[in-house]
Amino acid sequence: MNKIKTIIVGCGDRACVYAREGAINLGLLEIVAAVDPDEERLRYARESFGVTEGSCYKDIKDVLALGKIADCVINGTMDQLHLKTALPFLEQGYDMLLEKPLVSNGDDLLLLKRTAEQNGCRLMTCHVLRYAPFYLKIKELILNGEIGDIVNIQTSERVGAAHSSMSYLRGKWSKESECGSSLLLAKCCHDLDLICWLNNATAPVEVASTGGRDYFTESKAPKGAGTRCLVDCPESVRKNCIYDVQSMYLDNCILPWYPWQCTGKNYEDVTTEEKVESLKTYNPHGVCVYKAGGDIVDHQNVMITFADGSTATHSVTLGVMKPGRNIWVVGTKGEIEGFADEGTLKLTKYSKQTSLWESQSFDFNDVKGETGGHFGGDKGLINDFCQLVLGQQPSISCTSVQDSITGHLLVFAADKAMKENKIIKL
Ligand SMILES: NC(=O)c1ccc[n+]([C@@H]2O[C@H](COP(=O)([O-])OP(=O)(O)OC[C@H]3O[C@@H](n4cnc5c(N)ncnc54)[C@H](O)[C@@H]3O)[C@@H](O)[C@H]2O)c1
Repeated sequence: MNKIKTIIVGCGDRACVYAREGAINLGLLEIVAAVDPDEERLRYARESFGVTEGSCYKDIKDVLALGKIADCVINGTMDQLHLKTALPFLEQGYDMLLEKPLVSNGDDLLLLKRTAEQNGCRLMTCHVLRYAPFYLKIKELILNGEIGDIVNIQTSERVGAAHSSMSYLRGKWSKESECGSSLLLAKCCHDLDLICWLNNATAPVEVASTGGRDYFTESKAPKGAGTRCLVDCPESVRKNCIYDVQSMYLDNCILPWYPWQCTGKNYEDVTTEEKVESLKTYNPHGVCVYKAGGDIVDHQNVMITFADGSTATHSVTLGVMKPGRNIWVVGTKGEIEGFADEGTLKLTKYSKQTSLWESQSFDFNDVKGETGGHFGGDKGLINDFCQLVLGQQPSISCTSVQDSITGHLLVFAADKAMKENKIIKL
């Protein structure tokens, strides 16, 4: 079988996860070119996927100038670059896997969708959770009519302290003004997409939202805290601070591909001395978490009403001790309740014999965990993208742009509702 010729645009963490799975594990992709301004990332693409030196480019213009040399693009650039790096490839007719969030506003989203459609491109985004066996089971139970009609969905996402710090408080999604994404867009476009996907017999019509930046602010810093942990924060403060970089970044580091990116080296090659030096000087992760200057909220609630009267709520909180995603779907004939991070799911129904309830349990213990490939979703997503490009019928999870638009629009509306303190009609 001919492999799918693929260009990687933005050879960072996410694009390489998909390229590895598609090219090496599934054997369906052939990576024929790589684009990244960072020579270190191009070297990684050469060594990992066999891209030749002559097929590595620093700028998308150089590969676009060659005309259409492949079947598809895996676009793993950062949020603020998605539109700019996606449109020219779509205009040349490339199918594309574009990381979420697709873009940061409704106008750009429609432009992206229209460009894909006008050029006959299959455009999919990376709502990987739809492919996680845990969420897929929930979808199947709903489609099989096990809980009747959906009445209410409640989801929550509690982001662990270290993950919050590395991504949203000190990390590259800490400033909407720089990356273009709010917390809801960067972290919870997955959750609002899941809500819309699970309840897609109807559509959202109204959204309200509250939230704010209330806990990770200068005024909440421990008394006497400095500005950089390793430079001017007293030991007496650091020893009681959860966010002290010694334990969170140097002794343990749960997402090592984030904090050492600014050193310009592959994170596995950065020495302890280089890490310490960066934290003392230029590394944004070395700054006191309360003084890091982020402009996103640290907690938010969203309340949604659907056209058929069903409702949903989602809440996100940064800086919790035990992280995880919970879901509770209430239907007219049953309920589904689960905790993704522990891989536990229950289907509960009414028992006519006892007039009480009885539950059936499902276990997803082998694909649990906050950081491990999105509960198994990464693998399923790239396989489905390959099937789509090959012209096969995609799965029920398929995150085509046409099917992913509602969740994105809901995020934009929820943020508007929060900022303007009013209910938004969709
Ligand atoms: N699906 C998910 O659950 C999930 C999880 C994490 C991140 N993401 C998203 O994936 C995307 C990538 O995140 P990441 O953590 O892999 O980022 P990253 O920083 O590791 O990778 C981005 C790469 O793009 C390169 N780049 C910069 N400018 C470029 C340009 N003009 N042309 C081509 N390449 C360019 C950078 O050098 C870098 O190597 C983001 O949009 C992020 O929000 C999605």
